[in-house]
Amino acid sequence: MNHERIVIERGRRTGLTIIVAVHSTERGQAIGGCRLKHYPDWRDGLTDALRLSEAMTTKAATAGLRNGGGKTVIVAPDGPFDRDDALRDAGDVIASLNGAYATGPDVGTGPADMDVIAERTEHVFCRPSRSGDPSEGTAAGTVAALRAVCAHLFGSPELAGRSFAVLGLGHVGSHLVRMLAERHAKLIVSDIDPARRAVAEEYGATWTTPAECFAAEVDVLVPAALGGLLTPATVPVLRCAAVAGPANNQLDAPGTADLLRERGILFAPDPIVSAGGIIHAVEIELHGATAAEAAERVDQVERTLANALQG
Ligand code: PHE
Repeated sequence: MNHERIVIERGRRTGLTIIVAVHSTERGQAIGGCRLKHYPDWRDGLTDALRLSEAMTTKAATAGLRNGGGKTVIVAPDGPFDRDDALRDAGDVIASLNGAYATGPDVGTGPADMDVIAERTEHVFCRPSRSGDPSEGTAAGTVAALRAVCAHLFGSPELAGRSFAVLGLGHVGSHLVRMLAERHAKLIVSDIDPARRAVAEEYGATWTTPAECFAAEVDVLVPAALGGLLTPATVPVLRCAAVAGPANNQLDAPGTADLLRERGILFAPDPIVSAGGIIHAVEIELHGATAAEAAERVDQVERTLANALQG
């Protein structure tokens, strides 16, 4: 077993499966978001929690934080359920770990949900009254990472005139599209939810289907939604020079990185690209940083990734 501790419980209120995976506390308290998502089987949720928590250890360490990695997964059912009770159930499991792990928002949860979890445990980041929504920090860190990618590929970190295909316009993806549009980048964007097309229109980005976006001929493909999209079957479809985005666990398996390399496509490891959110939260909530100081730390993702791409 790679993980320090894995807790799987049936929620007292909802009966839903709650999984908390603590990968490592070697460098300090394990941190990682609470994912609320439907899975075909709770075991699929466990697989996700194991991989995501391990990636959080890498993310915290490469970001230079004195934290380890963990993750919570609430396995959402097919039918309706009491969302707040599911969060309280998760809060109880997190409380039982006595501070070894602290949670935050992730796919399917937001800052307001952290207040509900806080009814049961103090070990929760990103409450609206604390550091709040981390997704803007994650997007800012991604912009910093894209500068490093462009410097590496084209000899200049300038984003103006560069082309990006952003796949996924959720919390992070929408901020990112705004930031890239402000920097005069050329944008192709997509989301599985057709309603997100409004974001494309707001920022003058070209809206496509997810498949077209994935295969777009651009400088950088920016996965900004769910992971696992880079597989032996999908890598041959790519027409980008690099893949660099904030989605967690983009590779279906570590070996897929070799397939990208064989195709001459630069891959920026997602634990480095996506660290802006935890850097923002930890700097403000644990280290008493101001918003400006936290933003400066988030921008250091550029240097961290530049060093990694050189090594
Ligand atoms: N979803 C965030 C991530 O994957 C998790 C997180 C953010 C945890 C902020 C704590 C604080 O990085």
